[in-house]
Amino acid sequence: MADSSTVKSIEYLNGKFFLLDQTRLPLEVVVEEQKSVEQVWDSIKKLKVRGAPAIGVAGAYGLLVAMRDGSALSRQDFLEEVRKQADYLDSSRPTAVNLHWALQRVVEKLSASKESDGAGLLRLLEREAMEIHREDIEVCRKIGENGVELIKEGMGLLTHCNAGRLATSDYGTATAPMYLAHQRGIGFTVYSDESRPLLQGSRLTAWELQQAGIDVYTITDNMAAYVMRHGLIDMVIVGTDRVAANGDVANKIGTLGVAILARHFDIPFYVASPFSTIDLNTRTGEDIVIEERDEEEVTSFGARRTAPQGIKVRNPAFDVTPHQLVTGFITDRGIVKPPYEENLRRVFA
Ligand code: MRU
Repeated sequence: MADSSTVKSIEYLNGKFFLLDQTRLPLEVVVEEQKSVEQVWDSIKKLKVRGAPAIGVAGAYGLLVAMRDGSALSRQDFLEEVRKQADYLDSSRPTAVNLHWALQRVVEKLSASKESDGAGLLRLLEREAMEIHREDIEVCRKIGENGVELIKEGMGLLTHCNAGRLATSDYGTATAPMYLAHQRGIGFTVYSDESRPLLQGSRLTAWELQQAGIDVYTITDNMAAYVMRHGLIDMVIVGTDRVAANGDVANKIGTLGVAILARHFDIPFYVASPFSTIDLNTRTGEDIVIEERDEEEVTSFGARRTAPQGIKVRNPAFDVTPHQLVTGFITDRGIVKPPYEENLRRVFA
């Protein structure tokens, strides 16, 4: 089994951009240099890089890869091309707002700059992508600091999907308080939902927490009610792909079911979110576009087909949890409590 402690989801070294291929975890650690913008698009689409913050950072570096040969262009041609490439990268996955956010941030930075030619714009693009990457680590660490007090000795925590180190540049979002609590010597147990169909919970979350020395069980998604019913869970912490202005939360398919169960069993349900995932331009969860993925993800388990040929399939990759089920948002700017419409705007506008 590969070792997670030294592996990074994203690396930028000596002008080269590398992504860890997360589809091959936990059995193999394969790092791929990203040499073309089409390759970056494909890596995001196929979930080689995944998790809202990570695809934002990857998108920014993807723009750099796209514009690498653009130093001879005029300012106007460079800006026109960069907007086109940003739209292209943005089309790879629709739900996580971080991708759109990071691409727009780079485009706006370049457009607002006084750089007079392609060479200057390209240098600025590289600096901005590196800054987004650096900030992501910092922001996740702050989520950890703000959430760590919630984790008490002996607690059982449940998480869904992977909002861990692998989904970000480091620390993760939902896992950041866990990593910090572990560093402080607090003992707790994590139950990691498998997260069908692509198993981010068992392949990725269970792997990275286990390697960090955190006490972790993986369970199939339909066991969440059982562990709650048997008093094993004191708190749920999940990540998110987009938080609407009213506090509705898009996250990995199955999160809604976990939130409903948590309410039934009177268990606090927290959502860890960096500022870049809070989308005040989206009014409610109704307005969030939910990605539908290939039906083969549902009709097979690994390489083996598990459903009849020709069967009709639905495969939404995310669902929306209504804000009424959210106990609080653990963010880099503190823990935000209801009423969300008012408090998210106050903290993030
Ligand atoms: O389809 P994925 O693996 O990209 O989905 C990831 C999630 O749903 C995560 O919980 C979310 O992006 C938050 S990652 C910090």
